[in-house]
Amino acid sequence: MLARSRFILVLVVGALLAVLSFSLQYLHLIPTNPVAEQRSAGRSRKRVNPVLHTDPPAPDPIRDTHQYCNYPNLTEHGWEGHCPPDYKLLSVQVMIRHGDRFPLYSIPKTKKPTIDCILSEKRKPSHPLLASFISHMALGGRGHWDASLGSLPRLPSHSTCEMGELTQTGVVRQLKNGDHLRQAYISRHNLLAADWLPRQLWAETTGKSRTLQSGLAFLFGFLPHFDWSRLTVRQQWSTLFCGQSCDCPARNRYLDQEQRRQYRQRIADAELERTYVTMAKTLGVATKTLRAANPVDALLCHFCHGLPFPCSSTQTSSNAPDEGACLTLEHFAVIRRQQKDDELERREAGLYRRYAVLAAHPYLNRSAARLERIARGSQMRKSKEDAVFALASAHDVTMAPLLSALGLEGAGFPKFAARLVFELWSSPETKERRSDRKLDNMFIRVLYNGEDLTFDTAFCREHNRRSTQPLCPLGNFLSFVRKDMFSVVNATSYQQACHQTVL
Ligand SMILES: *[C@@H]1O[C@H](CO)[C@@H](O)[C@H](O)[C@H]1NC(C)=O
Ligand SMILES: *[C@@H]1O[C@H](CO)[C@@H](O)[C@H](O)[C@H]1NC(C)=O
Ligand SMILES: *[C@@H]1O[C@H](CO)[C@@H](O)[C@H](O)[C@H]1NC(C)=O
Repeated sequence: MLARSRFILVLVVGALLAVLSFSLQYLHLIPTNPVAEQRSAGRSRKRVNPVLHTDPPAPDPIRDTHQYCNYPNLTEHGWEGHCPPDYKLLSVQVMIRHGDRFPLYSIPKTKKPTIDCILSEKRKPSHPLLASFISHMALGGRGHWDASLGSLPRLPSHSTCEMGELTQTGVVRQLKNGDHLRQAYISRHNLLAADWLPRQLWAETTGKSRTLQSGLAFLFGFLPHFDWSRLTVRQQWSTLFCGQSCDCPARNRYLDQEQRRQYRQRIADAELERTYVTMAKTLGVATKTLRAANPVDALLCHFCHGLPFPCSSTQTSSNAPDEGACLTLEHFAVIRRQQKDDELERREAGLYRRYAVLAAHPYLNRSAARLERIARGSQMRKSKEDAVFALASAHDVTMAPLLSALGLEGAGFPKFAARLVFELWSSPETKERRSDRKLDNMFIRVLYNGEDLTFDTAFCREHNRRSTQPLCPLGNFLSFVRKDMFSVVNATSYQQACHQTVL
């Protein structure tokens, strides 16, 4: 009786959730999940399924773009910090992409979008931590800054944003993401105690203000009012976070090949070419000038901020301020559609994956080494000495290769403030294990934007979850990073792969 009514309750709740989630998605109140979509697409492709109408609908470039904007008014959900009972969280390594930013390029003969980059808790989007974040950043002189980071502004600070500057939208999203991980890792698992030691927190960023500021906003959400004197922020000189191991001739060769593929795909797209011609005519500039200005970057900013698309600023009597003189959502949709097509073709061609494996290795190798040290330290009951929390504040060009190298290409292009998380867990100890020098009781989880993708990764896809190990063994990850990942380029080590001849 009890079991039966519980079953009925589950059914009712399930049905309610289904209706709710459908209506929310339909009304675009919440974005549909790109990861889930991609995964189900992948599965249905594997199945031999002749019934066409069961395939997922064609992706809608505009709906996808709403996800890319990553509006801070959407509540953050995520499966970070979820694990079977009695497992212990030992370490978390996070890479984030910077939040919403002003364009890097401007469209010729148009006005730039008007966005105020001076933070104000009175303007939307806002956050309960925003005012204290602003005053805390003023004390940043007490922190330790690597290389050129000390001279960068710690807050966005122009009433008309500068090119590439982080916006308030970006700051608020990062505060929210940091707060979400604070609840997952600090409130629930006490990953860092209140008296955390400087060496337990590793923070690194590229030398751009938007990554530095994104990292600081994230950290402030994660550790509100953190003690500046305990914080050191390191600089990565390369957007690949490759440290001392950046030299890799083959990597550049694979990137060339991929870029040639991309170029061919683009010029073969007649609709895209027509659209560029129309847009250029609208603005009164040469088509190649417009194309070189990468208009999608600026249009994305207009789109994400709900601003009208730009119009030609040189109005002649013949094209007075009528609609014909402005760029439109239809133009934008064509460019976004082509970008989506390109993503699919990129995965199938496999050239990018080869580049990605070599681009992502140094970062993965450092993370793997750190996780292994922490795992061994924990087995030997040493106190937490290493960076139990590591944050890398990066770019789309950092994160995209990492996803590809891990076999997570289906996760799509990294949106603003995207986050990729590696969690290290140990299972409850048994007597035999205590003296064991192997890492049999150590496990890894991989999450992207809160979604648990561990069993989609190249190193744990084959793992039997119903075995005695419900999580992915850390050993799988270590051997993937040190050797297995190079099978994509027919090699067994980074050195070999980087220096072999690429035709
Ligand atoms: C969130 O903000 C965006 C942009 O400001 C807006 O388009 C969207 O409707 C908002 N969504 C909700 C649920 O408030
Ligand atoms: C990978 O990490 C190990 C330390 O675990 C280091 O000795 C090695 O040089 C690293 N390799 C690369 C290519 O970064
Ligand atoms: C790896 O070797 C296979 C078989 O010899 C070949 O088809 C493939 O093109 C090679 N891949 C690379 C990246 O060299």
